[in-house]
Amino acid sequence: MPPMADHDSRAGATYGTRNVLDYAARVHAAHDEGLAQAFDAPDQRGIPAIQVGPSEGKLLSLLMTLAGARKVVEVGTLAGYSAARMARALPEDGHLWSIEFDARHAEIARENLVAAGVADRVTVVVGAGVDVLPTLEEHGPFDAVFIDADKENYDKYGAWAAANTRPGGLLIGDNAYLFGKLVDEEDRSAAMRRFHEQAARDYDSVCIPTPDGLVLGVRR
Ligand code: SAH
Ligand code: DHB
Ligand code: MG
Repeated sequence: MPPMADHDSRAGATYGTRNVLDYAARVHAAHDEGLAQAFDAPDQRGIPAIQVGPSEGKLLSLLMTLAGARKVVEVGTLAGYSAARMARALPEDGHLWSIEFDARHAEIARENLVAAGVADRVTVVVGAGVDVLPTLEEHGPFDAVFIDADKENYDKYGAWAAANTRPGGLLIGDNAYLFGKLVDEEDRSAAMRRFHEQAARDYDSVCIPTPDGLVLGVRR
């Protein structure tokens, strides 16, 4: 593809300054007590604070609503913030299966999902994504899959998602710029590029220019 015109390469400009982003998040993506507990938990409990931002969390919630999502899979629970955001948007008979490798993260997440009022709608499954995903297939096909775990396996998670998502269902992938290393010569960069290329083939897709890129696809 030739280089894009100026208006496209302006993405990544600096209009979204800290103050501007904070204002927008406050207006559109405020936390109630339950969401605040899940969002603040990583800092308070001494685990990595690598949850999605409040605006991305709200986006996840709106996407679930727009897709009419009822059955959803997440890879990478951490403390349950993104899970709480998505689960809040599910109908009463909806369900989110969220996979987490670290048993302590999973335990903290379960507490936070109780506080967020969505414990009955979320199952946190402890294990590695590649091992757990096949065990969830019996519940599919799914309305949405959100990938936010180990970056070197995004291509595998994406392939699983394409095979287990209904037409019109969503693929969402955080950290799609791979911390700026997407076009570097690392194994995980190549894996993330495969994720992008598979997504563009199997889904009508875009990479939203959030700070670290968020792939959004609608299953063909
Ligand atoms: N989605 C969360 C953030 C997830 S951070 C939120 O926005 O609130 C990434 C999580 O993936 C971490 O908790 C990490 O322990 C987990 N993880 C790392 N490797 C994994 C794997 N192979 N399978 C499942 N989870 C994994
Ligand atoms: C890391 C993981 C994430 O999912 C994220 O959004 C930011 C950082 C990490 O592993 O460092
Ligand atoms: Mg992430």
